[in-house]
Amino acid sequence: MIVGQTGTIMTRSNVEIKVVAGPDELSEAGAAEFRSLARRTVQEKGSFTVALSGGSTPRGLYERLSGESGASLQTKLPWKKIHFFWGDERHVPPHHPDSNYRMAVESLISKVPLPRQNVHRIKGELPDAAKAAEEYELELRSFFESSAEQLPRFDLVLLGLGSDGHTASLFPGTGAIQEQTRWVVSEWVEKSNAFRITLTAPVLSNASRVIFLVGGKEKAQTLQEILQGDYRPELFPAQLVRPIHGELLWLVDRAAASLLRLDHGNQSTGR
Ligand code: 6PG
Repeated sequence: MIVGQTGTIMTRSNVEIKVVAGPDELSEAGAAEFRSLARRTVQEKGSFTVALSGGSTPRGLYERLSGESGASLQTKLPWKKIHFFWGDERHVPPHHPDSNYRMAVESLISKVPLPRQNVHRIKGELPDAAKAAEEYELELRSFFESSAEQLPRFDLVLLGLGSDGHTASLFPGTGAIQEQTRWVVSEWVEKSNAFRITLTAPVLSNASRVIFLVGGKEKAQTLQEILQGDYRPELFPAQLVRPIHGELLWLVDRAAASLLRLDHGNQSTGR
């Protein structure tokens, strides 16, 4: 498939790139993936754990899940069995305009019958970001009942991509991208002039399914480097997210995919 069309290609056994037309189709496709995975997972194991992405791209997806766009599908999701976590958070209080938690509450959580105890937010309001990271890791350890060395396995991790190659709050040039032991770390991010709290790459890669949601021409060069360039995670931390046992879906719109050459059977794309 030459870019400009839409469609799906399997780049490696567990990595898929799906190109959709534009932002609305990106949100709809993301919501459809969420719905089918949530229903299937709840049917199979009685619950569904998802780490939400922050940023602006996923808002449309969350709004579709909440039935905001008119579809009455929200009632068909088993909300009481779904647990929401976050892949990262800014070091701000929950009501702050920059809060990822606030964005998810406004666009989804406040609109669906989700029990309060199913919302596991990162406490960005704590004065010490490192403490917020520690507390979040303790909450994950208790929820996933994981032993010391066993990583938590989210059923779904939603991620975005910054044009600088970051994902969650794993930014180029920060210590967070080297972390292999802790599940959650805090990091000063020069670019944002703020601390951030983030899940680390080993946790993100341990998910059963990871979906990157990437839209817009401004991401095209970075996406091409990440999917078809050399493996340079120090420059492109999103390359660190490589599910070992799970699946990785790059859900991208045509503008973001505009520099990719996606030939069926061309295994050189994707990681
Ligand atoms: C955040 C996100 C971050 C985001 C990218 C893309 O806290 O901002 O976790 O990783 O996904 O920066 O952001 P946009 O979707 O706004 O382009």
